[in-house]
Amino acid sequence: MDRIRSKELLERARQVIAGGVNSNVRLLSLPQPLFFREGRGCRIRDEDGNEYLDYVLGQGPLIHGHCHPALLAAAQEGMSRGMMFAGQHVGEIELAERICRLVPGAELVRFGSSGSEMVQVAFRLARAHTGRRRIVKFEGHYHGWFDNVLVSVAPSLEEAGPRESPRAVRASRGQDTAALDSMLVLPWNDPEILEKTLRAHAHEIAAVITEPIMANVGCILPEPGYLQHMRALCDELGSVLIVDEVITGFRVAPGGAQEYLGVTPDLCTFGKAMAGGFPIACLAGKKYLMDQLTGGVNHSGTYNANLLVVHASIACLDLLTARDGVAYQHLFDTGQRLCHGVAALIREKGECVQAQGPGPMFHLAFSETPLRDYRSAVGCDTPRYHQMTRRWMEAGVRVLERGLWYVSTTHSAADVDETLNRIADSLREEHAAPG
Ligand SMILES: Cc1ncc(COP(=O)(O)O)c(C=O)c1O
Repeated sequence: MDRIRSKELLERARQVIAGGVNSNVRLLSLPQPLFFREGRGCRIRDEDGNEYLDYVLGQGPLIHGHCHPALLAAAQEGMSRGMMFAGQHVGEIELAERICRLVPGAELVRFGSSGSEMVQVAFRLARAHTGRRRIVKFEGHYHGWFDNVLVSVAPSLEEAGPRESPRAVRASRGQDTAALDSMLVLPWNDPEILEKTLRAHAHEIAAVITEPIMANVGCILPEPGYLQHMRALCDELGSVLIVDEVITGFRVAPGGAQEYLGVTPDLCTFGKAMAGGFPIACLAGKKYLMDQLTGGVNHSGTYNANLLVVHASIACLDLLTARDGVAYQHLFDTGQRLCHGVAALIREKGECVQAQGPGPMFHLAFSETPLRDYRSAVGCDTPRYHQMTRRWMEAGVRVLERGLWYVSTTHSAADVDETLNRIADSLREEHAAPG
């Protein structure tokens, strides 16, 4: 595939945009940061005219694919009444009512523009309520790019320290190192270490924050009973349980992973799939915590709950929950068939691949053993996966280099067949190639 125009555009962009991209995550794209012209449904076309079946889906938000007509119409309808009022509109209530009906842990909500912001509000509420300072987070979990939480997201094993008491490792130069001290980092999926640490530090732990399904590294389900154990410990020791559903929310069930896994948090954060690609995020939680937002805890934002994003989000959730949630059946069926299909094709070639995840998102990795936490993921053959994703890109299948696949309601059975055929051809060519 030619990528000449993308290369030229990247050079031009680098003259005026730092690195040529507007999110550091995009610097890592293989074979290079590409420029795209348009997306429709489950397909995306780059500036050189190459078309790809898209399993990146904007890093998760595009649960109804690119440019779903119902979302575009709703956004336009919202905007036709006004863009923002710096005051309230009925749509906010309608969206909040839907979320409170769907999400087990949602008694009250607040809207913002990004998942990163919502996590910060959750920390503030937890600290205000408990009068404690420290937050427990897990190695390899990502909760946004702000100083106080961009900690131990992808540390090298040398930096990371002992497994039972990992060091808090900053992930960016320039990060305020004082912020690291407020984080207590633990390995995920280990109930003994969790219990021991929470008991030893109970007096200083305001909150435990967790991805309910670890999806920023791998796509790892919690061991049976692990999140329930976390819930019980937080209850007993007076810490706030924050479940970060920015990836899982509205993707694995209408009520998020908390519904799917049967654990109700005190606070939870949403973004990505909640509006199918429009920039809105949500903090939801128990009334006694959320009520602090009218009792001295600040949360603000110029763009919060503007008409465009709120109306798009309502349309997105309505599509997901229509006809008894048939959309979820589709997401699970499609994702599972694709996941098992790709894994089978790789195994046929004699390679050992782990395929994990519920279906609406899943993860592939070259590893002898299933991934169960961050350190088990570090041992995967990442260069081999990168090599494969580059080949799949050449075959017109766009996936994230880190192994996570997202599917949308617009990926049909025929699209899955086409993807599997393209991957089968790509693998055949690779194995037929001399050397
Ligand atoms: C679990 C999780 N939390 C928070 C965030 C931050 O969300 P945003 O990129 O909208 O700030 C992300 C982003 O990928 C995420 O995966």
